[in-house]
Amino acid sequence: MSPPSERRLLTRIDRVLVSEDDIRARVNELGAEIQKDLHSDELTLLVVLHGSIFFSADLMRAISLPLYLESIRVSSYHGGTTSSGTVKLDQAPLSELAGKDVLVVDDILDTGRTLNAVVSHLRDEIGVASARSCVLLDKNVERAVEFEADYVGFKIEDAFVVGYGLDYMGKYRNLPLIGTLKPEFILT
Ligand code: IMP
Ligand code: MG
Repeated sequence: MSPPSERRLLTRIDRVLVSEDDIRARVNELGAEIQKDLHSDELTLLVVLHGSIFFSADLMRAISLPLYLESIRVSSYHGGTTSSGTVKLDQAPLSELAGKDVLVVDDILDTGRTLNAVVSHLRDEIGVASARSCVLLDKNVERAVEFEADYVGFKIEDAFVVGYGLDYMGKYRNLPLIGTLKPEFILT
């Protein structure tokens, strides 16, 4: 077992890309922007689990409207730091969203496959009134599919990051900031 000092979360972080304060400030701005842009007075947040749980919890409270909340589990990553390419929508009883204005909230836009699959499903299969998307992070990579989010918290470099909901092999979601892991904590 690792010594107690190395078990502490922050000691495992190599570089901080977004601080806790910057996250808080930007999430409040995003909430205000989303609220200002809304034409109706009803909005459903569709939260992509698990990565966006902290982001969506904070974002919801930055929007002063009576929101609905739904969630969906999507898997495209299988444990490591590279995307598998196939997107599986694990929970798709989303028919109650038909005719509604939906904002899909995810942690990070990387290859674009996840959000493209969710948004296409909502538009083409469910028949929502509108489907917009909001991500905390937008990774500066070439997308595998063409997709851009309507709202972006921060553009970041092409690095694998953890924290504020984002995980590495299921862990590190509870880190309050966004950062990269020290190489010795990444399995090769
Ligand atoms: P996409 O389908 O490639 O756009 O990837 C989106 C999903 O991949 C996100 O919801 C994350 O779960 C995961 N992901 C992509 N990049 C990272 C990262 O740097 N850290 C942790 N998870 C990531
Ligand atoms: Mg995710």
